[in-house]
Amino acid sequence: MGHVPSILVVDDELSMREFLKILLEKEGYAAQTAANPAEALALVRQGAIDLVISDIKMPGGSGLGLLEELRAGGLSVPVILITAYASPEDAVRAMKGGAYDYITKPFNVPEIKEIIKNALASGGPIKESEEPEGASFQGIIGQSQEMRRIFDLIRRIAPTHANVLIQGESGTGKELVAQAIHELSKAAGHKFVPIVCNAIPESLFESEVFGHVKGAFTGALANKPGLFTEANHGSVFLDEVGELTPLIQTKLLRVLQEREFKPVGSSETIKADVRIISATNRDLEAEVVDKRFREDLFYRLAVVPIRVPPLRERKADVPLLVNHFLAKYSALFGKEITALSSYALEVLMDYDFPGNVRELENIIERGVALENSNLILPESLTLSAHRRRAVQSREGEMSGDDYFELGLDEAVASLEKTLIAQALERAGGSKMRAAELLKVSFRSLRYKTKKYGID
Ligand SMILES: Nc1ncnc2c1ncn2[C@@H]1O[C@H](COP(=O)(O)OP(=O)(O)OP(=O)(O)O)[C@@H](O)[C@H]1O
Ligand SMILES: [Mg+2]
Repeated sequence: MGHVPSILVVDDELSMREFLKILLEKEGYAAQTAANPAEALALVRQGAIDLVISDIKMPGGSGLGLLEELRAGGLSVPVILITAYASPEDAVRAMKGGAYDYITKPFNVPEIKEIIKNALASGGPIKESEEPEGASFQGIIGQSQEMRRIFDLIRRIAPTHANVLIQGESGTGKELVAQAIHELSKAAGHKFVPIVCNAIPESLFESEVFGHVKGAFTGALANKPGLFTEANHGSVFLDEVGELTPLIQTKLLRVLQEREFKPVGSSETIKADVRIISATNRDLEAEVVDKRFREDLFYRLAVVPIRVPPLRERKADVPLLVNHFLAKYSALFGKEITALSSYALEVLMDYDFPGNVRELENIIERGVALENSNLILPESLTLSAHRRRAVQSREGEMSGDDYFELGLDEAVASLEKTLIAQALERAGGSKMRAAELLKVSFRSLRYKTKKYGID
């Protein structure tokens, strides 16, 4: 077997160190422990540590401080931070500081196992020169596990001739992914030709895409090469491919099977030497099941499927994207806005971005346009109102004094309510999973959600 990954556990509590060490060793990792950040730093400096799992609040210094010292010292080992107190400021600081992930206690064992596995697979220490400060790949900004996995996949499949289907919600960056694949492929010196499938009427599709000869139909005054000819030796990007009509699906399938096509009205076949990259924001597998999309065409297009996750599932990318768009629009509008106030960033970290990166870009663009100081304040962020639930609950958050005011029973109830709401949110609304997170039975959770009127 190859290298056994070595994981360093940093926690002031002996019981926690022991618990994690046993868990890690049972998973086949080598585990070391440190009781404070200084000890941890010394161990990492010796090399040989592939991953650090650190508590945040320790008497001898904080896990966030450790993270910052590691990065300042040029050590890029992935760091997972654990805390008993979920504070949004810490989460923001952790992600901005380059933590791999941030988890709150009590965590569940399968979840932490998964995170560890992913963190180790993230390639371990990233080479400094390759990935400075803000990680980007072919103009795609991202440092989350999900995006790194996509960068990796692109790197591997771009040089092959395989057709790629990119699926993801609107605004997630599918077109950027398509361009990156083209740029890293053998077709790079040739054209990348986008075809927006639903923008061409069915009656014109064939002649636009495959061309026509003079006299093929009224108005065909001269031979005209189609988009496939334009893309010869290059890539065709079939955008919104899920919108193709059944007739066109059938025609396209034939071209892909035979690797050649005929311009409308021509008897001559032309070899189709193009790489097909397609994208859709529909769930194309579901369209296949519902018989709205041809299964055989689906398999031709999706030799390599790539799923670009929505931004709300990769919040670690938010601060990076914010900085990128701030720089872009400050320059464009001739302003000197270099940052978001930390509360404004928190608001964004809590927001779920139904319009994904495109929406974030618009938010920052408007923010830069509206703001007169050199810092963007929450008031300058325009978020779609019905999605601000999380943000509003934060505004109503309680302080220590408020709790005393309430008295113990009410305070406990209030905290209980908050935690249940948070668990439900994290569990994507699944009571079963929320109960697991809270380590209570499903029945008891159901009772409490009824009691507090949380749905
Ligand atoms: N990771 C990213 N880094 C930088 N810019 C991004 C990123 N993802 C998306 N964008 C920007 O967001 C906008 C939307 O991206 P893109 O057009 O690629 O999305 P899409 O998935 O094709 O959306 P749609 O399904 O609506 O066509 C573009 O302006 C793009 O430059
Ligand atoms: Mg697009």
